[in-house]
Amino acid sequence: MIGKITGIGTALPKYVMDNEELSTMVETTDQWIRERTGIRTRHIARNGETTTSLAIEAAKEALKAAKIEAASLDLIIVSTNTAIDLMPNTACEIQKEIGAFVATCFDITVACSGFVFAYNTVLAYMRANMCKKALIVGSETLSNVVDWSDRGSCILFGDGAGAVVLEEDDSENFKPLMSSMGAKGEALTLTNSFGKARDFMAMDGSEVFKFAVASVPKIIEELLMINQFEKEKIKYYVLHQANKRIIDAVAKRLKEPLDKFPTNVENYGNTSSASIPILLKEMDEKNSFKKGDYIVMVGFGAGLSLGATILKW
Ligand code: COA
Repeated sequence: MIGKITGIGTALPKYVMDNEELSTMVETTDQWIRERTGIRTRHIARNGETTTSLAIEAAKEALKAAKIEAASLDLIIVSTNTAIDLMPNTACEIQKEIGAFVATCFDITVACSGFVFAYNTVLAYMRANMCKKALIVGSETLSNVVDWSDRGSCILFGDGAGAVVLEEDDSENFKPLMSSMGAKGEALTLTNSFGKARDFMAMDGSEVFKFAVASVPKIIEELLMINQFEKEKIKYYVLHQANKRIIDAVAKRLKEPLDKFPTNVENYGNTSSASIPILLKEMDEKNSFKKGDYIVMVGFGAGLSLGATILKW
């Protein structure tokens, strides 16, 4: 059993912050940010745009694209580390808004691996006959938790949401992979002091960089090996969009051509769990995918965590 993506939706805040604007806030330059990260602009939530409102907008668009009724969804999983409320969870807020009356709804907090963790969780539900149609949403307003005085991290992140409808399809069966390394958790943290103080994300950039460059090629190779799948059959590697240099390094280590690694980090920065569905939608709009194409998706980030999966278009 494998899931099939039948609809994609996205929502991006209207306000766009470029590197020039950032350089008026912290000691940095457009050139430094572009050379070290590939990022030029990011969207920032303002004027009532929230993690929930973006998630609902993306979810509605994905349902419309999939041409299904919300009431036919069995499962809604939202991946977010910037939920407005812990109770009710964001998935329940979406359920209420779209009328997905019978869906089981929960949020997960796996940061930048969250979309792939949610995707693989839906596959497990499908294999267990617990779900036929699911909605996965990655939504983040990281601008609320970024330390805007830390030039080593605030330049990287952006806000946005992406959603996919995943429907049961039994044409092929791939084993996905996920792993977590709690011992390395200090490299990327976001405290939760329940309103007592402002919570900020803190990051050891070079530690996270080294982790990504070493671990992402490894998990891809392991994924292909356990599924007895050759690299030549993969049309695209859709990686979490954290930093263009990480993506370039992964391609090099895998000895795969860069054009198999689409990127849009230039325009959005790192939108955490929203980055993969935002990229999928852009590629779909450009007709980059043909029916039957195989795509590897990989998420990596806080935890530290890693998730990988093979998707058939
Ligand atoms: N503008 C200008 N200079 C900056 C800067 C900025 N925005 N941020 C850091 N610097 C400086 C540092 O202070 C340091 O100066 P020093 O040599 O005088 O001490 C120098 O640039 C090099 O810093 P370093 O941290 O080694 O840079 P880097 O090449 O590793 O790039 C990151 C920093 C954050 C861009 C990079 O480590 C990275 O992308 N890491 C992964 C982060 C990530 O993806 N996190 C999310 C994962 S899901």
